[in-house]
Amino acid sequence: MTSTTKCPIARAPANAPPVPAHVPPELVLDTRFANGHIPNDLADPYAPGDVLRDPAFPRIHFYPWPASGNQHGAWVVTRYEDIRRVYEDNDLFSSEGVAQFQVLAGETWPSIPLGIDPPDHGKYRKFLNPWFTPIAMKAREPRIRAIIGEMIDQFAQRGEIDIAYDFGRVFPVRVFLDLMGFPFAMFEQFLAWEWDILHEPEIATKAAAVRGILGYLREFIGEKQAAPDATLGSYIANGTIDGEPLTPDEVLGMTWFLWLGGLDTVASTVSQMFRRLAMAPALQARIRDNPAIIPTAVEEFLRVQPLVNSGRKAKRDFTWYGVEIKAGDWVTVFNSSGNFDAAQFACPHAFDPERQANRHFTLAGGVHLCLGAHLARRELRVLLREWFVRIPQPFRIKPGTDTTVTPGLLSIRNLPIVWDVN
Ligand code: HEM
Repeated sequence: MTSTTKCPIARAPANAPPVPAHVPPELVLDTRFANGHIPNDLADPYAPGDVLRDPAFPRIHFYPWPASGNQHGAWVVTRYEDIRRVYEDNDLFSSEGVAQFQVLAGETWPSIPLGIDPPDHGKYRKFLNPWFTPIAMKAREPRIRAIIGEMIDQFAQRGEIDIAYDFGRVFPVRVFLDLMGFPFAMFEQFLAWEWDILHEPEIATKAAAVRGILGYLREFIGEKQAAPDATLGSYIANGTIDGEPLTPDEVLGMTWFLWLGGLDTVASTVSQMFRRLAMAPALQARIRDNPAIIPTAVEEFLRVQPLVNSGRKAKRDFTWYGVEIKAGDWVTVFNSSGNFDAAQFACPHAFDPERQANRHFTLAGGVHLCLGAHLARRELRVLLREWFVRIPQPFRIKPGTDTTVTPGLLSIRNLPIVWDVN
């Protein structure tokens, strides 16, 4: 077992939730700062996570607070190769129950595809994949470009925008609503439900929001079954696999998880991307002067902004780095650490917009690699291209702005930026 005598992180405080009896107390550590909840004001908000790869830091530790969207503690791995093992070893790790917020409303059906293990997982991905391939995204690009361009044009001459609240929060949701066939009128209500589910600490508040969205989704599915159209929501509501119609639970499980996974992940990415750009005029100039680097720059933005730490459940007892892990224990991967592992990435804290072979975990790994990965990439690429064409002037954070960021899905609520207009 890794020595914990010189562990650079404090043990969890006495008021932390209790841990299972087989967890050694010296491995129960307070690593909340690396789990997307604690804000900071650093130029690189993920830098504090470096301590998790210190040679004296245990290779695996226990995090007693709820992790990965679940209501319980978990073992945590922080090194690139250990994270990859959790994502890729489907014989040992299951994703059943990950981010399964619907249990709060007494629902027992799984989230699809995330809550399904191989081999069944494959049939759902095969069903959904045609909507998310690079070719499908290319076909959708004109619509994405129109939404983004139209929005930027509305404020380009103003010289100022709250890039997080008034833009980053809005445009990816508009793209997503379009894709699914959800009405734009649900915009604010969707975001309010999602906020409650993901970020409100009170279980009763989360449960009320889950009930709200599920009630809405059941109606939406009924409407799409009564009057099918060319949207993804309709494709799922009327879907068949191997000639058999999807069951009501399958339809709901898929519609629900797309809603949860697709709504505001890109929004958080945009706000952190613009914070970094606004603090680095030379980086702005480099991308503006050479748009050919936008695809690699987007990948680098994704690497340095790992929003989500995922989790898996151990399928059987096993020993890892001398630690006994029991069947049913949860193992969380800190993508927030793995993406900066020097064993995988040269100069991990240098932002290199032309970095090659950038295999980060922001969009996860293994079979559950984010279904929306190509859509997210496409949206970010179109955004950078349209931005620098329509607003070539350098932009900066509005003086006096609070630049605190939560290095996770919460990210930044408001970020006013300014530029000179002629
Ligand atoms: C930058 C934006 C995004 C980030 C950072 C992100 C992140 C992730 C991560 C980390 C996972 C894996 C979770 C796990 O294995 O436990 C995931 C899975 C998933 N994401 Fe995304 N996501 C993004 C955008 C999207 C979008 C736009 C959509 C849909 C329109 C989407 C839909 C999904 C779905 C359906 C899964 C489950 C895939 C499966 O289980 O096979 N994501 N995403």
